[in-house]
Amino acid sequence: MNKLAHEDSVALLDRDMAAKNLSGYWRLGMEGLPPYPMTSVQPCLWKWADVHESLLRAGEVISLENSERRVVRLVNPGLDQKHAFATHTIQISFQYVKPGENARAHRHTPAALRFVVQGNGAYTTVNGQQCVMEPGDLILTPKLTWHDHSNDSNEPMLWLDGLDFPLVTALHQVMQERYPARRQPIEKSSEDVMAQGGASAAEFFHYKWRDTEKKLRALANSSTAQDRFDGYLLEFRDPLTNGPTMTTMQCAVQLLPAAAETEAHRHTSTVIYHAFRGKGATEIGERRFEWEQGDSFVVPLWYAHRHRNRSSSDEAILFSMSDAPMLKALDLYRAEF
Ligand SMILES: [Fe+2]
Ligand SMILES: [Fe+2]
Repeated sequence: MNKLAHEDSVALLDRDMAAKNLSGYWRLGMEGLPPYPMTSVQPCLWKWADVHESLLRAGEVISLENSERRVVRLVNPGLDQKHAFATHTIQISFQYVKPGENARAHRHTPAALRFVVQGNGAYTTVNGQQCVMEPGDLILTPKLTWHDHSNDSNEPMLWLDGLDFPLVTALHQVMQERYPARRQPIEKSSEDVMAQGGASAAEFFHYKWRDTEKKLRALANSSTAQDRFDGYLLEFRDPLTNGPTMTTMQCAVQLLPAAAETEAHRHTSTVIYHAFRGKGATEIGERRFEWEQGDSFVVPLWYAHRHRNRSSSDEAILFSMSDAPMLKALDLYRAEF
């Protein structure tokens, strides 16, 4: 068969197969699969000034009567804009609840966490447990736990929301239910749960900044605890299992001493960072992103990255969320340096 006749026969076969919902492997070409994992997620940084301004403007025009939440989502320019996600697995957004407001109770299959950025005294209620929020607090609302947010204080409350929404969307598992009342009844406080210790580990949702900071400082005072790639890194662990923060997300805070520089490495997990204190710079692949308090940035999978504290006198603290637990569960986690 000559070349043209052969191409015609293949095209005819492809067309006939397509009509029967079939497709030939030969259509993928001869390049094969890439030698390392590839992503369309792009390294990206969002300035706090932009996020903050958008939240305040939303506060003027969006009420909690016509939007279930007043949330501004960070969007990655490398992803399909239809879903507006920051990475392909974890979403990062910021939420604003004004004094006197309540964001109604609901629950859903995406797991969520809150890292408090600004304000004091508002609270999230998780399965009847009141978690009063202060800056630096981490509050978990695992899959299908009822949660609502109330601000009975007289100051604006702003926090970071992290969700495994993109992953749950990719798995076609998204669902949500509304609680029958706007607020769920409060049965106990997270302070009570913390005071009870081990017995209540199964309902531990609230990591107070005062405890996190104490542990982080103790770590930073031990010279052997410094990690080549992450400075002094403290992971939030599930007290019941000592495993990851949640099944899909690992949260951490890391302290970079004044003028510290880490070494470069890369891994198959994707990490979202939020600058909680200080200022620094992170090299991601060929690019360098300068950050300061309030900024957020994404390190996509398999991009080499290293951090630097840009201050010669002050420490910097980063909060981060990584999809490593799900990759480890699927045997897809790998790191290289
Ligand atoms: Fe929610
Ligand atoms: Fe890393």
